[in-house]
Amino acid sequence: MTESSPLFNNICSDLYQQGYSIQKHSLSETLAQGLYQHISNLDDSRLKKAGIGRNADHQQQDDIRRDKILWIEGENEIERQWLNWLEDLKQCLNRQLFLGLFSLESHFAIYRPGDFYKKHLDVFQGKSNRKLSVVTYLNPDWPEDAGGELVLFDKPENHMPWQDSHELCKVVPQMATTVIFLSEDFPHEVLPAQQRRYSIASWFRVNHV
Ligand code: OGA
Ligand code: MN
Repeated sequence: MTESSPLFNNICSDLYQQGYSIQKHSLSETLAQGLYQHISNLDDSRLKKAGIGRNADHQQQDDIRRDKILWIEGENEIERQWLNWLEDLKQCLNRQLFLGLFSLESHFAIYRPGDFYKKHLDVFQGKSNRKLSVVTYLNPDWPEDAGGELVLFDKPENHMPWQDSHELCKVVPQMATTVIFLSEDFPHEVLPAQQRRYSIASWFRVNHV
């Protein structure tokens, strides 16, 4: 995929107009299948309990999120292809929107049945260098009634606590759907699912706080 692909152009214009974008069929069949094979075969011992920042104790953490993660470092061909996809997207965003995105981080996430991630923002207080959040789903034939949707909430109005912001839409975690949004503006939540739920969460960072 090149930087000027219609997909990346659509993402740019959505972000410009509304601050978020939802794209079905965002990956080639080969990339989607390769990533699915990889994540669904990951050895359980490699997965780590996800965190929510430094100061949270474990109990509190469990109340907020339950997924398990593995950071993507480019250790094999499919991981490298994925990081290249993100890199191409980053270049397109920087060229068209002048976002000044600098680095990226990306991890696989696995939610077992019943796991969730309560309403949150992806930026922690005093650390606002996460600019853009990107979530890609890897669940072939996800049933509409299996739960596990991502709920996106509106950008909070002036002086409104983000916890009170209103629901904007729900996204079914269907194979190769990608959601992109401005990390500081959109609170979101993962609803409990009835089956194992595979995704990749990524962030583009800027180089200053
Ligand atoms: C996250 C997150 C959303 C999802 O990892 O921060 O909000 O749908 N993930 O998996
Ligand atoms: Mn999040």
